[in-house]
Amino acid sequence: MTVCEYRAGLEGIPATQSSISFVDGQRGVLEYRGIAIEELASKGNFLETAYLLIWGELPTEAELELFEHEITYHRRLKYRVRDMMKCFPESGHPMDALQACAAALGLFYSRRALDDPTYIREAVVRLLAKIPTMVAAFQLMRKGNDPVQPRDDLGYAANFLYMLNEREPDPFPAHIFDVCLMLHAEHTINASTFSALVTASTLTDPYAVVASAVGTLAGPLHGGANEEVILMLEEIGTVENVRPWLAKQLAQKGKIMGFGHRVYKVKDPRATILQHLAEQLFEKYGRDEYYDVAVELEKAVEENLGHKGIYPNVDFYSGVVYRKLGIPSDLFTPVFAISRTAGWLAHWKEQLNENRIFRPTQIYTGTHEAAYVPIAQR
Ligand code: CMC
Repeated sequence: MTVCEYRAGLEGIPATQSSISFVDGQRGVLEYRGIAIEELASKGNFLETAYLLIWGELPTEAELELFEHEITYHRRLKYRVRDMMKCFPESGHPMDALQACAAALGLFYSRRALDDPTYIREAVVRLLAKIPTMVAAFQLMRKGNDPVQPRDDLGYAANFLYMLNEREPDPFPAHIFDVCLMLHAEHTINASTFSALVTASTLTDPYAVVASAVGTLAGPLHGGANEEVILMLEEIGTVENVRPWLAKQLAQKGKIMGFGHRVYKVKDPRATILQHLAEQLFEKYGRDEYYDVAVELEKAVEENLGHKGIYPNVDFYSGVVYRKLGIPSDLFTPVFAISRTAGWLAHWKEQLNENRIFRPTQIYTGTHEAAYVPIAQR
């Protein structure tokens, strides 16, 4: 066995073999099953993309219709899940609520053999169908309201916005949200997907796999960055304040949220698409002052940090778009989770095809033969 050198954060070390997605960080390329993200974002929809990621091929019309039908049918939550959610403190973070809910699904849908394709299909459908309902239900419950039942006549994205805002969205914002879901659906072996893989490799149930990934996505260095971006833009406040704020931040060696990426050393292609979507939204529904601050910040960061390969990542413009869609900032990461569930499930399924439990090694840096000191003498 070849022993590799230790690299913090496993940077550059392959953790698996996968045919799900591909990133070229130097050229700014992202492909799902070989199809460019720009192509999918302009021609596809989220459920079609989820199907592609999970089953490896674009669905036929009949396959997509059946998949959409199954998802629509499974959107509702059992009343016991809703009762459980009612006991959550309203001050709790929605990502913690989502992690608990995802894990709780494992209580309701008993574990079956992981080589049973029907079980795999049911788990995929249940998770994709119920996670948006859970996110919207928590939002209404923490405001003291009853959750809104999903509407079977609305598509995946439109139904989520309807359940969240208690009103049917216009087709255009619903379409923009659907594109956002496609853009966030998958991104090779990032931290949460790695977490999903490690959990999957123990052959536990798929709800535990998704719950562990949700917990990992929540951190500010990963999915939590989109929420931090909006807080940062609010703190900067005006276009005039961008450069003084940035100078102070860089002098304190502070990170600029929504910038930098372990893999991309150019602008993240998803950030380019999201910026374009933001422009379209503002053109139709009125400009948002945070967008101007964001554009100025991108210019200033590029001048200061471009030489280090630090450019906007997917989280930089997503918050600006979500804010315009009426999504509260602490739901940005749960929305990311709704979408990334597709990628996690694709990796879960791929891991099961050729599973070996993850059991890496470590370089021990402690001492040996240390004495046990009785408590009274410490
Ligand atoms: N602002 C300022 N400096 C930065 C930033 C940033 N956002 N990102 C990296 N750097 C600097 C960093 O200080 C370091 O400089 P030096 O070599 O002089 O010490 C150098 O660039 C390398 O940074 P790193 O933190 O070692 O890079 P990494 O590959 O370990 O981290 C990252 C990648 C995404 C965690 C990091 O860029 C970061 O913290 N960005 C801000 C948080 C963020 O936007 N996260 C979302 C990531 S994309 C979506 C996702 O994964 O969910």
